[in-house]
Amino acid sequence: METVELNEIKLKEEDRYKIELNTGIQAMDRVEIVSGLSEIVANSYLLMLKTHLYHWNVKGDLFYTIHKMTEEQYTDLFSAIDDLAERIRALGSGAPGTLGEFSKLSFVKDGKMNSTEKEMIGDLLNDHEELVRLMREVVPVANKAGDEVTVDLLTQRLTTHEKNAWMWRSFLEK
Ligand SMILES: [Fe+2]
Repeated sequence: METVELNEIKLKEEDRYKIELNTGIQAMDRVEIVSGLSEIVANSYLLMLKTHLYHWNVKGDLFYTIHKMTEEQYTDLFSAIDDLAERIRALGSGAPGTLGEFSKLSFVKDGKMNSTEKEMIGDLLNDHEELVRLMREVVPVANKAGDEVTVDLLTQRLTTHEKNAWMWRSFLEK
Protein backbone atom coordinates (compact mmCIF):
# COMPACT_ATOMS: atom_id res chain seq x y z
CA MET A 1 0.00 0.00 0.00
CA GLU A 2 2.79 2.37 0.98
CA THR A 3 4.76 1.54 -2.17
CA VAL A 4 1.77 2.40 -4.36
CA GLU A 5 1.42 5.79 -2.69
CA LEU A 6 5.12 6.54 -3.21
CA ASN A 7 4.80 5.58 -6.87
CA GLU A 8 1.82 7.88 -7.23
CA ILE A 9 3.80 10.80 -5.78
CA LYS A 10 6.68 10.03 -8.11
CA LEU A 11 4.34 10.03 -11.09
CA LYS A 12 2.91 13.39 -10.10
CA GLU A 13 6.40 14.91 -9.90
CA GLU A 14 7.18 13.55 -13.34
CA ASP A 15 3.96 15.00 -14.73
CA ARG A 16 4.77 18.39 -13.26
CA TYR A 17 8.20 18.26 -14.86
CA LYS A 18 6.64 17.47 -18.24
CA ILE A 19 4.17 20.34 -18.25
CA GLU A 20 6.67 23.01 -17.22
CA LEU A 21 7.81 24.99 -20.24
CA ASN A 22 11.47 24.46 -21.05
CA THR A 23 11.93 26.05 -24.48
CA GLY A 24 14.80 28.40 -23.67
CA ILE A 25 12.74 31.59 -23.21
CA GLN A 26 12.88 32.98 -19.67
CA ALA A 27 9.61 33.03 -17.71
CA MET A 28 9.78 36.80 -17.12
CA ASP A 29 10.36 37.40 -20.82
CA ARG A 30 7.41 35.16 -21.69
CA VAL A 31 5.14 37.20 -19.42
CA GLU A 32 6.18 40.40 -21.19
CA ILE A 33 5.79 38.92 -24.67
CA VAL A 34 2.38 37.43 -23.79
CA SER A 35 1.20 40.77 -22.45
CA GLY A 36 2.08 42.43 -25.77
CA LEU A 37 0.56 39.60 -27.81
CA SER A 38 -2.66 39.77 -25.76
CA GLU A 39 -3.04 43.47 -26.61
CA ILE A 40 -2.39 42.67 -30.26
CA VAL A 41 -5.03 39.89 -30.24
CA ALA A 42 -7.60 42.17 -28.57
CA ASN A 43 -6.99 45.07 -30.95
CA SER A 44 -6.95 42.78 -33.99
CA TYR A 45 -10.27 41.29 -32.91
CA LEU A 46 -11.97 44.64 -32.45
CA LEU A 47 -10.49 45.84 -35.75
CA MET A 48 -11.90 42.71 -37.42
CA LEU A 49 -15.32 43.57 -36.00
CA LYS A 50 -15.09 47.19 -37.20
CA THR A 51 -13.89 46.04 -40.65
CA HIS A 52 -17.00 43.84 -40.83
CA LEU A 53 -19.24 46.75 -39.80
CA TYR A 54 -17.87 48.89 -42.63
CA HIS A 55 -18.04 45.96 -45.08
CA TRP A 56 -21.77 45.72 -44.39
CA ASN A 57 -22.66 49.41 -44.15
CA VAL A 58 -20.49 51.19 -46.69
CA LYS A 59 -22.42 53.36 -49.22
CA GLY A 60 -21.35 55.56 -52.10
CA ASP A 61 -19.10 55.63 -55.17
CA LEU A 62 -16.45 53.42 -53.58
CA PHE A 63 -18.96 50.85 -52.33
CA TYR A 64 -17.64 47.89 -54.28
CA THR A 65 -13.94 48.63 -53.68
CA ILE A 66 -14.34 49.14 -49.94
CA HIS A 67 -16.72 46.18 -49.67
CA LYS A 68 -14.12 43.91 -51.33
CA MET A 69 -11.09 45.31 -49.48
CA THR A 70 -12.76 44.98 -46.08
CA GLU A 71 -13.68 41.39 -46.88
CA GLU A 72 -10.04 40.55 -47.64
CA GLN A 73 -8.92 42.30 -44.46
CA TYR A 74 -11.36 40.74 -42.00
CA THR A 75 -10.64 37.31 -43.47
CA ASP A 76 -6.91 37.88 -42.95
CA LEU A 77 -7.48 39.22 -39.42
CA PHE A 78 -9.56 36.18 -38.47
CA SER A 79 -6.78 33.77 -39.33
CA ALA A 80 -4.04 36.01 -37.85
CA ILE A 81 -5.88 36.27 -34.52
CA ASP A 82 -5.90 32.47 -34.32
CA ASP A 83 -2.13 32.31 -34.96
CA LEU A 84 -1.41 35.05 -32.39
CA ALA A 85 -3.63 33.48 -29.71
CA GLU A 86 -2.05 30.08 -30.31
CA ARG A 87 1.38 31.66 -29.94
CA ILE A 88 0.29 32.88 -26.49
CA ARG A 89 -0.67 29.28 -25.62
CA ALA A 90 2.66 27.96 -26.91
CA LEU A 91 4.36 30.47 -24.59
CA GLY A 92 2.54 28.87 -21.67
CA SER A 93 -0.25 31.39 -20.99
CA GLY A 94 -4.00 31.55 -21.48
CA ALA A 95 -5.26 33.43 -24.55
CA PRO A 96 -7.85 36.19 -24.02
CA GLY A 97 -11.17 35.52 -25.76
CA THR A 98 -14.02 37.52 -24.27
CA LEU A 99 -15.34 40.89 -25.38
CA GLY A 100 -14.85 42.15 -21.81
CA GLU A 101 -11.14 41.28 -21.84
CA PHE A 102 -10.75 42.57 -25.39
CA SER A 103 -12.22 45.97 -24.56
CA LYS A 104 -9.95 46.25 -21.48
CA LEU A 105 -6.86 45.42 -23.54
CA SER A 106 -7.76 47.41 -26.64
CA PHE A 107 -7.46 50.94 -28.01
CA VAL A 108 -9.60 50.21 -31.09
CA LYS A 109 -12.94 51.98 -30.64
CA ASP A 110 -16.29 50.84 -32.02
CA GLY A 111 -17.01 51.95 -35.58
CA LYS A 112 -20.12 53.96 -36.49
CA MET A 113 -22.69 52.42 -38.82
CA ASN A 114 -23.49 55.70 -40.59
CA SER A 115 -19.91 56.82 -41.23
CA THR A 116 -19.12 58.24 -44.67
CA GLU A 117 -16.71 56.37 -46.94
CA LYS A 118 -13.97 58.88 -46.05
CA GLU A 119 -14.59 58.49 -42.31
CA MET A 120 -14.46 54.69 -42.60
CA ILE A 121 -11.20 54.83 -44.54
CA GLY A 122 -9.62 57.29 -42.07
CA ASP A 123 -10.76 55.25 -39.09
CA LEU A 124 -9.35 51.98 -40.49
CA LEU A 125 -6.12 53.73 -41.48
CA ASN A 126 -5.64 55.00 -37.91
CA ASP A 127 -6.30 51.58 -36.39
CA HIS A 128 -3.89 49.79 -38.73
CA GLU A 129 -1.19 52.36 -37.96
CA GLU A 130 -1.80 52.12 -34.20
CA LEU A 131 -1.53 48.33 -34.39
CA VAL A 132 1.72 48.72 -36.32
CA ARG A 133 3.13 50.98 -33.58
CA LEU A 134 2.10 48.49 -30.88
CA MET A 135 3.75 45.60 -32.76
CA ARG A 136 6.93 47.69 -33.14
CA GLU A 137 7.08 47.88 -29.33
CA VAL A 138 6.68 44.11 -28.89
CA VAL A 139 9.16 42.96 -31.58
CA PRO A 140 12.30 44.19 -29.71
CA VAL A 141 11.08 42.50 -26.49
CA ALA A 142 10.61 39.17 -28.30
CA ASN A 143 13.90 39.66 -30.13
CA LYS A 144 15.85 40.29 -26.93
CA ALA A 145 14.27 37.20 -25.35
CA GLY A 146 15.37 34.99 -28.27
CA ASP A 147 11.76 34.39 -29.31
CA GLU A 148 12.26 34.38 -33.06
CA VAL A 149 8.88 32.68 -33.63
CA THR A 150 7.03 35.70 -32.23
CA VAL A 151 9.38 38.04 -34.11
CA ASP A 152 8.58 36.18 -37.34
CA LEU A 153 4.83 36.20 -36.68
CA LEU A 154 4.82 39.91 -35.89
CA THR A 155 7.02 40.70 -38.88
CA GLN A 156 4.39 39.07 -41.09
CA ARG A 157 1.61 41.00 -39.34
CA LEU A 158 3.56 44.25 -39.70
CA THR A 159 3.91 43.63 -43.43
CA THR A 160 0.15 43.15 -43.82
CA HIS A 161 -0.92 46.06 -41.60
CA GLU A 162 1.53 48.48 -43.20
CA LYS A 163 0.26 47.40 -46.64
CA ASN A 164 -3.34 47.90 -45.53
CA ALA A 165 -2.48 51.31 -44.07
CA TRP A 166 -0.81 52.31 -47.34
CA MET A 167 -3.88 51.23 -49.33
CA TRP A 168 -6.34 53.14 -47.12
CA ARG A 169 -4.04 56.18 -47.09
CA SER A 170 -3.93 56.16 -50.90
CA PHE A 171 -7.68 56.86 -51.06
CA LEU A 172 -7.20 60.04 -49.03
CA GLU A 173 -4.11 61.32 -50.92
CA LYS A 174 -4.62 63.63 -53.87
FE1 LIG B 1 -19.69 39.76 -47.05
